[in-house]
Amino acid sequence: MLSAPEDSVPLSAFAALSLQVAFGVDEAVADDPRIWTQAPAAVVVAPATAPAGASSVSQAVRAVSASAPVAVSSYRVQARTLEDLKAEIQAFEGCALKNTAMNTVFADGNPASPLMLIGEAPGEDEDRQGKPFVGVSGQLLDRMLAEIGLDRENVYISNTLFWRPPGNRTPTDTEVAACLPFVQRHIELVKPKLLVLLGGAAAKAVLNTKDGITRLRGRWQDYALPDGTKIQTLPTYHPAYLLRQPAMKRDAWRDLLAVRTALEKEKAAE
Ligand code: URA
Repeated sequence: MLSAPEDSVPLSAFAALSLQVAFGVDEAVADDPRIWTQAPAAVVVAPATAPAGASSVSQAVRAVSASAPVAVSSYRVQARTLEDLKAEIQAFEGCALKNTAMNTVFADGNPASPLMLIGEAPGEDEDRQGKPFVGVSGQLLDRMLAEIGLDRENVYISNTLFWRPPGNRTPTDTEVAACLPFVQRHIELVKPKLLVLLGGAAAKAVLNTKDGITRLRGRWQDYALPDGTKIQTLPTYHPAYLLRQPAMKRDAWRDLLAVRTALEKEKAAE
């Protein structure tokens, strides 16, 4: 029970807050991080300084469609190295998730690996440690990779989003769109031989499709880089889904075996 406020808090606001507490609300986190005392701002998908070619930041601000497949923001990534990409993401102010996250979660593993995996978004553990897939899903992912002889020394792992959505809610299309130019540059810079997309959110964003993961999983597709290089890409189930639906591990196992075979072929062709 809350005690009555001082004069400075309007009574209606106090009553609304008491009601929330009575309903059991214990986290002051909304779907979208926002400063309640300010008017809603436009969605900014531009850096603090305007990118090359744009004469002002406002030119680089763009309305992002909420319709599927996920639109990509018009933000132009400058980074030409992974180090620069990490720094550019850390400095980026165009995704509101950054306001509520503790850390920017960039990547883990070996960028020289032939295999890059992309998940959805950092969870609580990832946000705290600043590393992708370190919580329970990550532990399952590590066990799955170990089954085909891989670990963090020989794979490279990142996400579709670089900040944890509050309360682990599903990221909005706007948030995914804001991060997508970075994800695309990330793939371009790593240039893996094989790309594995963990779950529907990553598959939808990276492959620019509205198809669901059940339809996409297990089917190799080409992901084309700007220079025309085609990267063999396999969507599969997200480890968090496998934790909830263990029966689906059978399909995920098939996908893992397909990845192992493709890696062996790549190695043999070297
Ligand atoms: N789930 C993801 O998609 N990514 C993480 O980093 C952790 C959990």
